[in-house]
Amino acid sequence: MTQAVHTRRIFSGVQPTGNLTLGNYLGAVKRFVEMQDHDWQTIYCVVDLHAITVWQDPEQLRRATRELTAAFLACGLDPARSILFNQSQVPEHAQLAWIFNCVARLGWLNRMTQFKDKAGKDRERVSTGLYVYPNLMAADILLYHATHVPVGEDQKQHVELTRDIAAKFNNDYGVPDFFPQPEPVIEGAATRVMSLRDGTKKMSKSDPSDMSRINLTDDADAISQKIRKARTDPEPLPSEVAGLEGRAEARNLVNIYAALSGLSAEAVLAEHGGKPFSEFKPALADLTVASISPISAKMRELMGDVAEIDRILGKGAEQASEIAEPILAKTYEIVGMVRSR
Ligand code: AMP
Ligand code: TRP
Repeated sequence: MTQAVHTRRIFSGVQPTGNLTLGNYLGAVKRFVEMQDHDWQTIYCVVDLHAITVWQDPEQLRRATRELTAAFLACGLDPARSILFNQSQVPEHAQLAWIFNCVARLGWLNRMTQFKDKAGKDRERVSTGLYVYPNLMAADILLYHATHVPVGEDQKQHVELTRDIAAKFNNDYGVPDFFPQPEPVIEGAATRVMSLRDGTKKMSKSDPSDMSRINLTDDADAISQKIRKARTDPEPLPSEVAGLEGRAEARNLVNIYAALSGLSAEAVLAEHGGKPFSEFKPALADLTVASISPISAKMRELMGDVAEIDRILGKGAEQASEIAEPILAKTYEIVGMVRSR
Protein backbone atom coordinates (compact mmCIF):
# COMPACT_ATOMS: atom_id res chain seq x y z
CA MET A 1 0.00 0.00 0.00
CA THR A 2 1.48 3.34 -0.97
CA GLN A 3 1.64 6.24 1.44
CA ALA A 4 -0.31 8.45 -1.01
CA VAL A 5 -2.63 10.98 0.58
CA HIS A 6 -6.19 9.80 -0.01
CA THR A 7 -9.11 12.19 -0.11
CA ARG A 8 -11.39 9.69 1.64
CA ARG A 9 -10.89 6.65 3.80
CA ILE A 10 -13.67 4.13 3.21
CA PHE A 11 -14.48 1.41 5.76
CA SER A 12 -17.21 -1.19 5.70
CA GLY A 13 -17.93 -4.63 7.12
CA VAL A 14 -20.08 -7.66 6.36
CA GLN A 15 -20.91 -10.49 8.75
CA PRO A 16 -19.86 -14.04 7.83
CA THR A 17 -23.24 -15.56 8.61
CA GLY A 18 -24.23 -17.66 5.62
CA ASN A 19 -24.50 -16.93 1.95
CA LEU A 20 -24.41 -13.41 0.63
CA THR A 21 -27.69 -12.35 -0.92
CA LEU A 22 -28.49 -10.13 -3.86
CA GLY A 23 -29.34 -7.51 -1.19
CA ASN A 24 -25.82 -7.62 0.24
CA TYR A 25 -24.41 -7.49 -3.26
CA LEU A 26 -26.43 -4.51 -4.52
CA GLY A 27 -26.66 -2.67 -1.19
CA ALA A 28 -23.02 -3.13 -0.24
CA VAL A 29 -20.38 -5.21 -2.05
CA LYS A 30 -21.01 -3.93 -5.61
CA ARG A 31 -20.52 -0.42 -4.27
CA PHE A 32 -17.39 -1.44 -2.32
CA VAL A 33 -15.94 -2.56 -5.67
CA GLU A 34 -16.84 0.71 -7.42
CA MET A 35 -15.17 2.70 -4.64
CA GLN A 36 -11.82 1.20 -5.58
CA ASP A 37 -11.84 3.28 -8.77
CA HIS A 38 -11.29 6.58 -6.98
CA ASP A 39 -8.44 8.20 -5.18
CA TRP A 40 -9.74 6.74 -1.93
CA GLN A 41 -8.30 4.27 0.53
CA THR A 42 -10.70 1.33 0.81
CA ILE A 43 -10.78 -1.04 3.79
CA TYR A 44 -13.24 -3.96 3.94
CA CYS A 45 -13.67 -6.29 6.87
CA VAL A 46 -15.22 -9.71 7.48
CA VAL A 47 -16.76 -9.03 10.90
CA ASP A 48 -16.70 -12.38 12.69
CA LEU A 49 -16.85 -10.76 16.16
CA HIS A 50 -20.19 -9.28 15.16
CA ALA A 51 -21.37 -12.65 13.87
CA ILE A 52 -20.98 -14.36 17.26
CA THR A 53 -23.43 -11.97 18.93
CA VAL A 54 -25.85 -14.74 17.93
CA TRP A 55 -24.85 -18.42 18.14
CA GLN A 56 -22.53 -19.66 15.37
CA ASP A 57 -21.30 -23.19 15.00
CA PRO A 58 -17.46 -22.83 15.15
CA GLU A 59 -16.63 -24.87 12.04
CA GLN A 60 -19.37 -23.14 10.08
CA LEU A 61 -18.13 -19.73 11.19
CA ARG A 62 -14.61 -20.53 9.98
CA ARG A 63 -16.01 -21.70 6.67
CA ALA A 64 -18.31 -18.69 6.32
CA THR A 65 -15.39 -16.31 6.97
CA ARG A 66 -13.43 -17.85 4.10
CA GLU A 67 -16.51 -17.99 1.87
CA LEU A 68 -17.28 -14.34 2.42
CA THR A 69 -13.68 -13.50 1.59
CA ALA A 70 -14.03 -15.56 -1.60
CA ALA A 71 -17.26 -13.70 -2.39
CA PHE A 72 -15.52 -10.33 -1.89
CA LEU A 73 -12.76 -11.39 -4.27
CA ALA A 74 -15.21 -12.90 -6.80
CA CYS A 75 -17.24 -9.67 -6.85
CA GLY A 76 -14.10 -7.75 -7.76
CA LEU A 77 -12.48 -6.56 -4.53
CA ASP A 78 -8.78 -6.47 -5.27
CA PRO A 79 -6.22 -7.01 -2.47
CA ALA A 80 -3.78 -4.83 -4.42
CA ARG A 81 -6.16 -1.88 -4.19
CA SER A 82 -8.11 -2.55 -0.97
CA ILE A 83 -7.29 -3.85 2.48
CA LEU A 84 -9.35 -7.05 2.92
CA PHE A 85 -9.19 -8.57 6.37
CA ASN A 86 -10.89 -10.43 9.15
CA GLN A 87 -11.91 -8.52 12.28
CA SER A 88 -10.75 -11.01 14.92
CA GLN A 89 -7.20 -10.98 13.48
CA VAL A 90 -6.80 -7.33 14.50
CA PRO A 91 -7.32 -7.31 18.30
CA GLU A 92 -7.54 -3.50 18.42
CA HIS A 93 -11.20 -3.75 17.32
CA ALA A 94 -12.19 -5.44 20.56
CA GLN A 95 -9.93 -3.16 22.60
CA LEU A 96 -11.42 0.05 21.21
CA ALA A 97 -14.93 -1.41 21.54
CA TRP A 98 -14.37 -1.71 25.31
CA ILE A 99 -13.49 1.97 25.54
CA PHE A 100 -16.67 2.76 23.60
CA ASN A 101 -18.73 0.58 25.95
CA CYS A 102 -17.73 3.18 28.50
CA VAL A 103 -18.56 6.16 26.25
CA ALA A 104 -21.92 5.16 24.72
CA ARG A 105 -24.95 5.63 26.96
CA LEU A 106 -27.53 2.97 27.77
CA GLY A 107 -30.28 5.27 26.46
CA TRP A 108 -28.57 5.45 23.07
CA LEU A 109 -28.39 1.69 22.69
CA ASN A 110 -32.00 1.33 23.82
CA ARG A 111 -33.06 3.21 20.70
CA MET A 112 -31.36 0.84 18.23
CA THR A 113 -34.04 -0.67 16.02
CA GLN A 114 -31.85 -3.55 14.80
CA PHE A 115 -31.43 -4.74 18.39
CA LYS A 116 -35.19 -4.57 18.94
CA ASP A 117 -35.79 -6.54 15.73
CA LYS A 118 -33.16 -9.18 16.45
CA ALA A 119 -33.99 -9.58 20.13
CA GLY A 120 -37.73 -9.79 19.50
CA LYS A 121 -39.84 -10.66 22.51
CA ASP A 122 -37.10 -12.70 24.17
CA ARG A 123 -34.94 -9.76 25.24
CA GLU A 124 -33.80 -11.30 28.52
CA ARG A 125 -32.23 -14.26 26.76
CA VAL A 126 -30.13 -12.62 24.01
CA SER A 127 -26.38 -12.19 24.47
CA THR A 128 -25.06 -8.97 25.96
CA GLY A 129 -22.84 -8.80 22.85
CA LEU A 130 -25.93 -8.27 20.70
CA TYR A 131 -26.78 -5.24 22.82
CA VAL A 132 -23.34 -3.58 22.56
CA TYR A 133 -22.93 -4.62 18.90
CA PRO A 134 -23.20 -0.98 17.70
CA ASN A 135 -20.27 0.02 19.95
CA LEU A 136 -18.09 -2.61 18.25
CA MET A 137 -19.22 -1.29 14.87
CA ALA A 138 -18.24 2.24 15.96
CA ALA A 139 -14.83 0.85 16.95
CA ASP A 140 -14.43 -0.78 13.52
CA ILE A 141 -14.98 2.53 11.79
CA LEU A 142 -13.19 4.92 14.14
CA LEU A 143 -10.13 2.68 14.62
CA TYR A 144 -9.18 3.71 11.07
CA HIS A 145 -10.40 7.30 11.32
CA ALA A 146 -12.61 6.35 8.38
CA THR A 147 -14.44 9.23 6.73
CA HIS A 148 -17.06 7.34 4.69
CA VAL A 149 -19.03 4.17 5.36
CA PRO A 150 -20.92 2.53 2.47
CA VAL A 151 -23.84 0.52 3.87
CA GLY A 152 -27.43 -0.44 3.15
CA GLU A 153 -30.30 1.60 4.57
CA ASP A 154 -30.63 -0.70 7.62
CA GLN A 155 -27.22 0.39 8.98
CA LYS A 156 -27.82 4.12 8.91
CA GLN A 157 -28.78 4.32 12.57
CA HIS A 158 -25.57 2.52 13.59
CA VAL A 159 -23.41 4.98 11.65
CA GLU A 160 -25.27 7.85 13.32
CA LEU A 161 -24.52 6.28 16.70
CA THR A 162 -20.86 6.07 15.65
CA ARG A 163 -20.92 9.83 15.05
CA ASP A 164 -22.42 10.38 18.51
CA ILE A 165 -19.74 8.20 20.12
CA ALA A 166 -16.97 10.07 18.27
CA ALA A 167 -18.39 13.44 19.34
CA LYS A 168 -18.83 12.41 22.98
CA PHE A 169 -15.33 10.93 23.19
CA ASN A 170 -13.77 14.05 21.65
CA ASN A 171 -15.78 16.28 23.96
CA ASP A 172 -15.29 14.30 27.20
CA TYR A 173 -11.53 14.07 26.74
CA GLY A 174 -11.06 17.54 25.27
CA VAL A 175 -9.64 16.33 21.93
CA PRO A 176 -11.94 18.13 19.48
CA ASP A 177 -10.57 16.66 16.25
CA PHE A 178 -9.40 13.22 17.35
CA PHE A 179 -12.16 11.00 15.97
CA PRO A 180 -13.67 12.26 12.68
CA GLN A 181 -17.42 12.27 12.02
CA PRO A 182 -17.89 9.47 9.48
CA GLU A 183 -20.52 9.86 6.76
CA PRO A 184 -22.82 6.98 5.87
CA VAL A 185 -22.88 6.48 2.09
CA ILE A 186 -26.29 5.09 1.19
CA GLU A 187 -26.87 5.48 -2.51
CA GLY A 188 -27.81 3.58 -5.66
CA ALA A 189 -31.05 2.05 -6.86
CA ALA A 190 -30.97 -0.78 -4.32
CA THR A 191 -30.03 0.38 -0.85
CA ARG A 192 -32.90 -1.71 0.45
CA VAL A 193 -33.60 -4.85 -1.56
CA MET A 194 -36.80 -6.46 -0.34
CA SER A 195 -37.82 -10.09 0.13
CA LEU A 196 -39.22 -11.76 -3.00
CA ARG A 197 -42.07 -13.16 -0.89
CA ASP A 198 -43.01 -10.01 1.01
CA GLY A 199 -42.29 -6.51 -0.29
CA THR A 200 -42.39 -5.03 3.22
CA LYS A 201 -39.48 -7.11 4.59
CA LYS A 202 -35.84 -6.72 3.60
CA MET A 203 -34.14 -9.57 1.74
CA SER A 204 -32.08 -11.33 4.40
CA LYS A 205 -29.63 -14.22 4.77
CA SER A 206 -31.52 -15.27 7.85
CA ASP A 207 -35.06 -15.41 6.41
CA PRO A 208 -36.39 -18.95 6.96
CA SER A 209 -37.64 -19.11 3.36
CA ASP A 210 -34.91 -19.57 0.75
CA MET A 211 -37.46 -18.49 -1.89
CA SER A 212 -37.39 -15.00 -0.33
CA ARG A 213 -33.85 -14.30 -1.48
CA ILE A 214 -31.33 -14.80 -4.25
CA ASN A 215 -28.02 -16.10 -2.97
CA LEU A 216 -24.78 -15.37 -4.83
CA THR A 217 -24.29 -19.15 -4.91
CA ASP A 218 -27.66 -19.92 -6.58
CA ASP A 219 -27.47 -21.53 -10.03
CA ALA A 220 -29.34 -20.24 -13.09
CA ASP A 221 -32.34 -22.54 -12.55
CA ALA A 222 -32.76 -21.52 -8.93
CA ILE A 223 -32.53 -17.82 -9.80
CA SER A 224 -35.09 -18.10 -12.62
CA GLN A 225 -37.47 -20.10 -10.46
CA LYS A 226 -37.26 -17.63 -7.55
CA ILE A 227 -37.94 -14.67 -9.83
CA ARG A 228 -40.78 -16.47 -11.61
CA LYS A 229 -42.42 -17.20 -8.25
CA ALA A 230 -41.71 -13.76 -6.76
CA ARG A 231 -44.82 -12.20 -5.34
CA THR A 232 -46.36 -9.44 -7.49
CA ASP A 233 -49.74 -7.82 -8.07
CA PRO A 234 -51.93 -8.47 -11.15
CA GLU A 235 -51.40 -5.04 -12.80
CA PRO A 236 -48.89 -4.52 -15.61
CA LEU A 237 -45.82 -2.36 -14.89
CA PRO A 238 -46.51 1.39 -14.84
CA SER A 239 -44.62 3.57 -17.29
CA GLU A 240 -43.54 6.06 -14.62
CA VAL A 241 -41.98 5.77 -11.16
CA ALA A 242 -44.96 7.50 -9.51
CA GLY A 243 -47.05 4.49 -10.56
CA LEU A 244 -45.03 2.25 -8.21
CA GLU A 245 -46.58 3.98 -5.18
CA GLY A 246 -48.24 1.38 -2.96
CA ARG A 247 -46.81 -1.48 -5.07
CA ALA A 248 -43.87 -2.59 -2.93
CA GLU A 249 -43.23 -5.86 -4.81
CA ALA A 250 -43.30 -4.20 -8.24
CA ARG A 251 -41.03 -1.43 -7.02
CA ASN A 252 -38.56 -3.96 -5.64
CA LEU A 253 -38.25 -5.86 -8.93
CA VAL A 254 -37.84 -2.62 -10.88
CA ASN A 255 -35.14 -1.43 -8.46
CA ILE A 256 -33.28 -4.73 -8.75
CA TYR A 257 -33.40 -4.45 -12.54
CA ALA A 258 -32.16 -0.85 -12.35
CA ALA A 259 -29.29 -1.64 -9.98
CA LEU A 260 -28.11 -4.64 -12.01
CA SER A 261 -28.31 -2.87 -15.36
CA GLY A 262 -26.94 0.47 -14.18
CA LEU A 263 -30.08 2.20 -15.50
CA SER A 264 -32.34 4.49 -13.49
CA ALA A 265 -35.78 3.21 -12.43
CA GLU A 266 -37.26 5.77 -14.87
CA ALA A 267 -35.28 4.29 -17.75
CA VAL A 268 -36.32 0.74 -16.80
CA LEU A 269 -39.98 1.77 -16.82
CA ALA A 270 -39.58 3.68 -20.08
CA GLU A 271 -38.53 0.36 -21.60
CA HIS A 272 -40.78 -2.08 -19.72
CA GLY A 273 -43.79 0.04 -18.70
CA GLY A 274 -47.10 -1.51 -19.77
CA LYS A 275 -45.71 -5.06 -19.84
CA PRO A 276 -47.23 -7.77 -17.62
CA PHE A 277 -44.96 -9.47 -15.08
CA SER A 278 -45.04 -12.60 -17.24
CA GLU A 279 -42.85 -10.64 -19.68
CA PHE A 280 -40.80 -8.56 -17.26
CA LYS A 281 -39.81 -11.45 -14.97
CA PRO A 282 -37.96 -13.48 -17.65
CA ALA A 283 -36.00 -10.34 -18.63
CA LEU A 284 -35.12 -9.74 -14.99
CA ALA A 285 -34.16 -13.41 -14.53
CA ASP A 286 -31.82 -13.28 -17.55
CA LEU A 287 -30.17 -10.12 -16.28
CA THR A 288 -29.77 -11.56 -12.77
CA VAL A 289 -28.30 -14.83 -14.03
CA ALA A 290 -25.87 -12.94 -16.28
CA SER A 291 -24.72 -10.83 -13.30
CA ILE A 292 -24.53 -13.56 -10.65
CA SER A 293 -23.31 -16.65 -12.52
CA PRO A 294 -19.75 -15.43 -13.12
CA ILE A 295 -19.52 -14.51 -9.42
CA SER A 296 -20.62 -17.93 -8.17
CA ALA A 297 -18.28 -19.70 -10.61
CA LYS A 298 -15.35 -17.59 -9.39
CA MET A 299 -16.30 -18.21 -5.74
CA ARG A 300 -16.24 -21.98 -6.28
CA GLU A 301 -12.83 -21.72 -7.89
CA LEU A 302 -11.42 -19.60 -5.05
CA MET A 303 -12.81 -21.93 -2.37
CA GLY A 304 -10.66 -24.65 -3.96
CA ASP A 305 -7.57 -22.94 -2.52
CA VAL A 306 -8.29 -22.11 1.12
CA ALA A 307 -4.59 -21.55 1.88
CA GLU A 308 -4.54 -18.68 -0.59
CA ILE A 309 -7.61 -17.10 1.03
CA ASP A 310 -5.97 -17.39 4.45
CA ARG A 311 -2.83 -15.80 3.05
CA ILE A 312 -4.81 -12.84 1.66
CA LEU A 313 -6.54 -12.38 5.03
CA GLY A 314 -3.20 -12.55 6.86
CA LYS A 315 -1.68 -9.90 4.62
CA GLY A 316 -4.79 -7.73 5.00
CA ALA A 317 -4.62 -8.00 8.81
CA GLU A 318 -1.02 -6.77 8.73
CA GLN A 319 -1.98 -3.77 6.61
CA ALA A 320 -4.99 -3.01 8.82
CA SER A 321 -2.86 -3.24 11.99
CA GLU A 322 -0.43 -0.67 10.64
CA ILE A 323 -3.24 1.88 10.68
CA ALA A 324 -5.09 0.61 13.76
CA GLU A 325 -2.20 0.22 16.23
CA PRO A 326 -1.11 3.86 16.41
CA ILE A 327 -4.73 5.06 16.64
CA LEU A 328 -5.48 2.68 19.53
CA ALA A 329 -2.20 3.64 21.27
CA LYS A 330 -3.15 7.31 21.02
CA THR A 331 -6.66 6.55 22.31
CA TYR A 332 -5.22 4.73 25.36
CA GLU A 333 -2.96 7.68 26.03
CA ILE A 334 -5.87 10.13 25.80
CA VAL A 335 -7.95 7.99 28.18
CA GLY A 336 -5.12 7.85 30.73
CA MET A 337 -3.66 4.38 30.43
CA VAL A 338 0.02 3.95 31.34
CA ARG A 339 2.10 2.85 28.37
CA SER A 340 4.35 -0.18 28.82
CA ARG A 341 8.05 0.39 28.18
P1 AMP B 1 -24.99 -8.01 6.87
O1 AMP B 1 -25.26 -9.18 6.02
O2 AMP B 1 -26.11 -7.73 7.82
O3 AMP B 1 -23.63 -8.04 7.51
O4 AMP B 1 -24.99 -6.76 5.88
C1 AMP B 1 -23.90 -6.43 5.07
C2 AMP B 1 -24.20 -5.20 4.23
O5 AMP B 1 -25.25 -5.49 3.31
C3 AMP B 1 -24.68 -3.99 5.04
O6 AMP B 1 -24.12 -2.81 4.48
C4 AMP B 1 -26.17 -4.02 4.87
O7 AMP B 1 -26.74 -2.73 4.99
C5 AMP B 1 -26.30 -4.53 3.43
N1 AMP B 1 -27.57 -5.22 3.23
C6 AMP B 1 -28.02 -6.33 3.87
N2 AMP B 1 -29.24 -6.69 3.43
C7 AMP B 1 -29.58 -5.76 2.48
C8 AMP B 1 -30.74 -5.59 1.64
N3 AMP B 1 -31.78 -6.42 1.69
N4 AMP B 1 -30.74 -4.53 0.80
C9 AMP B 1 -29.68 -3.67 0.73
N5 AMP B 1 -28.57 -3.79 1.49
C10 AMP B 1 -28.51 -4.82 2.35
N1 TRP C 1 -23.42 -4.09 11.29
C1 TRP C 1 -23.15 -4.26 9.89
C2 TRP C 1 -24.26 -5.14 9.28
O1 TRP C 1 -24.86 -5.94 9.92
C3 TRP C 1 -21.81 -4.90 9.64
C4 TRP C 1 -20.70 -4.04 10.12
C5 TRP C 1 -19.91 -4.27 11.21
C6 TRP C 1 -20.26 -2.82 9.56
N2 TRP C 1 -18.99 -3.28 11.36
C7 TRP C 1 -19.17 -2.38 10.37
C8 TRP C 1 -20.67 -2.06 8.47
C9 TRP C 1 -18.49 -1.19 10.09
C10 TRP C 1 -20.00 -0.86 8.21
C11 TRP C 1 -18.92 -0.44 9.02
O2 TRP C 1 -24.50 -5.05 8.12
